[in-house]
Amino acid sequence: MVEIAPSMLGADFGSMRKDAESVASESGYLHMDVMDGHFVPNLTMGSDLVKSLKGIAPLDVHLMITNPCDFIDDFAEAGAEIISVHIEAKDSEKALRLIRKKGIKSGIAINPSTPEEAIYPIVENADMIVVMSVEPGYCGQSFHESSVQRVKNYKEKYPNKLIEVDGGVSIKNSKQLIDAGADILVAGSAIFNSDNPLLTIQTMKES
Ligand code: DX5
Ligand code: ZN
Repeated sequence: MVEIAPSMLGADFGSMRKDAESVASESGYLHMDVMDGHFVPNLTMGSDLVKSLKGIAPLDVHLMITNPCDFIDDFAEAGAEIISVHIEAKDSEKALRLIRKKGIKSGIAINPSTPEEAIYPIVENADMIVVMSVEPGYCGQSFHESSVQRVKNYKEKYPNKLIEVDGGVSIKNSKQLIDAGADILVAGSAIFNSDNPLLTIQTMKES
């Protein structure tokens, strides 16, 4: 069954705990977007903020940072259940190994503009593939349709790995993505900007 992971970047930072608690009952994970203002042109959250949500739902940490190896210890300590790093970042293979060494699930994320094959040489070190369906950096961008085919291709090639889709996911494309083989759907604005976040999550799951 597909799991939904609300992206806390779409929540209200002033009431993040409350927002997290309000969606937890229907959420497989809370997706935490970590940005360093260098790998992407935006700054978001660090390990202390991630830690503050520990225990509400399992934490899925998405590192959009240039030097992920320097921060694996901090996010492991913060209580992450999954940590993903980008293929476009520095030493991503080493980072995947460090994550697994901590007993945490490792994810390799890939931008829409990066060729699909770029992950092949190191994917054996990853438990999950994160198909980015927007260029990373911001919430609320529109979904790249080509991601659906990418999900299909990866699922066919790596049936035992989890496939997560991140960016522009909503009830408009959730069925397509589930049919293509997605295991985890991340959604920020579609959930937190809706009138009924829990119902939106349920609708995505059942699509
Ligand atoms: C984009 C982030 C996404 C984003 C999702 O850089 O990695 O997780 O917060 O937000 P929506 O669902 O609004 O695209
Ligand atoms: Zn993300």
